[in-house]
Amino acid sequence: MDIPTFLRDNNLLSPLFFLSTTIFILFLVKRTKILVFKSIENLPPGPPQFPLIGNLLQVGDKPHVSMANFAKKYGPLISLRLGKQLVVVASSLEAAMGILKTQDRFLSSRSIPAAFQQKPLLPHSLIWSDCNQTWKNLRTLCRTELFSAKSLESQSILREEKVRQLLDFLYRNQGQVIDIEDVVFTTLLNTLSCIIFGKDMAQFADHGCGSTRDGLKESLHQVIEYGGRVKDVGSFYPMLERFDLHGLTRATKKVFDKVFACWEVVIEERRVVVGSTTWSSDHQALTFLDRMLENGFSNEQIYQLVMELFVAGTNTTTSTIIWVMTELIRHKEVMSKIEQEIQKHIISDQIPISQLSQLTYLQACIKETFRLHPPVPLLLPHLAVETCNVMNYTIPKNTKIFVNVWAMGRDPTLWDDPCRYNPERFTDLKLDYKGQDFELLPFGSGRRMCPGLPSGIKSVEYILASLIHEFDWGVPNGDDPSKLDVNEKFGIAMKRENPLKLIFKQKCYKDC
Ligand code: HEM
Repeated sequence: MDIPTFLRDNNLLSPLFFLSTTIFILFLVKRTKILVFKSIENLPPGPPQFPLIGNLLQVGDKPHVSMANFAKKYGPLISLRLGKQLVVVASSLEAAMGILKTQDRFLSSRSIPAAFQQKPLLPHSLIWSDCNQTWKNLRTLCRTELFSAKSLESQSILREEKVRQLLDFLYRNQGQVIDIEDVVFTTLLNTLSCIIFGKDMAQFADHGCGSTRDGLKESLHQVIEYGGRVKDVGSFYPMLERFDLHGLTRATKKVFDKVFACWEVVIEERRVVVGSTTWSSDHQALTFLDRMLENGFSNEQIYQLVMELFVAGTNTTTSTIIWVMTELIRHKEVMSKIEQEIQKHIISDQIPISQLSQLTYLQACIKETFRLHPPVPLLLPHLAVETCNVMNYTIPKNTKIFVNVWAMGRDPTLWDDPCRYNPERFTDLKLDYKGQDFELLPFGSGRRMCPGLPSGIKSVEYILASLIHEFDWGVPNGDDPSKLDVNEKFGIAMKRENPLKLIFKQKCYKDC
């Protein structure tokens, strides 16, 4: 591809990008000493860099793909320059282990995208903090109150109710083409908002067409969109960060303010109840909000943590379910096997959560989907707090670090016939996604590993099993299901480029 086409395709000629680049060059001219990158000894190898911009133009809109291509040429641990920012990318089992295990202590800080640079709230962050005491306390609170076996058990009735509402909605909309992502997202959002606030915060779109988005749903989509933007001049040139040239920090703040104003009412009502002399945590149905209030959280602490849980929890889980459905529609024989498995093990009308563990073939399909379509293909960006060594290369302090789990899932030295969707590879293989087996890391590993794994997996298994148990699924307009595309859109969670529109009808054994 020639450079003008590349610039046009990647929207790099947009007025905003043009303006910000011009301002940046003027800035540089004043400070000529940073025109040349300082050369650092013994960095991992990488592609040649252009002056000023480094490898920016080579990375494009699908960084997981371009970085995987670089790894094929330069090896499993590569270094790039995105503007002024030094970036190291791991793309093999050994390199991932070096980063997430051997040097985990030095490489577990975070690089914060512009959208989340909300200065007053950042000290209360779980996702974007260093591994400090606040971060430890927040992880412990979430683990015990949201993600422990006991908490999941106590959430079972609620989850069953939310899935019942999803199925009822689908029954009412049979015969229509449905945007399955929207209904799954709504279900997950309401499950989480009931756990946290004790009430629903989203509604299913009318007629299942996915075009109506209400308050919180729309706001979360916006935050996720701003947070996942690849082109962010401030993160490429840290000295420009404070100018917020793309307006992402300001735009996100606006959305946050709107959402927090609604939450404030709920929080204040509850604060009065929890603060009353008659309050006893033993005898009342507790929400996560109650727990935070009992722990003396301020409104700002609550806003930040809850927003992070919504952003991290709903989007990734939805994306997993959509990719599994995509592959099952493409592979009819795999779908049939899951149906047989469900019929064999589940005798009741609605699947009880307690019986999900028997659906081992469904679990193999989920693992195979994580391998080919990891929802967070580069994990969240890590940052080096100290200079250290990985695979005998130097990783200097303040380097931004990605682990390309998408590339690892397609590595022919780890997987036979890696591009083929073949869940059977996991039926005998004792390989899990819990952070011990470095071949498969959809949730990461080490101290920054996803704390929401038990909750996310429970939702994925339960929603998928229920959708498959109740309905037969297909593509509209008589299209060939095996030709359904798998084009990806990079973001905080990697989605399908085109929405997954499906038709569905009640299973015939359910009619009889
Ligand atoms: C299938 C679903 C999910 C997937 C694939 C997933 C994946 C991930 C990944 C890859 C990371 C970053 C790991 C790293 O940077 O090394 C992460 C972090 C995180 N996830 Fe999840 N996640 C899922 C569900 C959830 C849920 C349901 C929640 C909460 C409701 C959640 C909350 C978080 C939080 C708070 C972090 C930040 C942890 C930290 O920085 O210490 N995730 N997740």
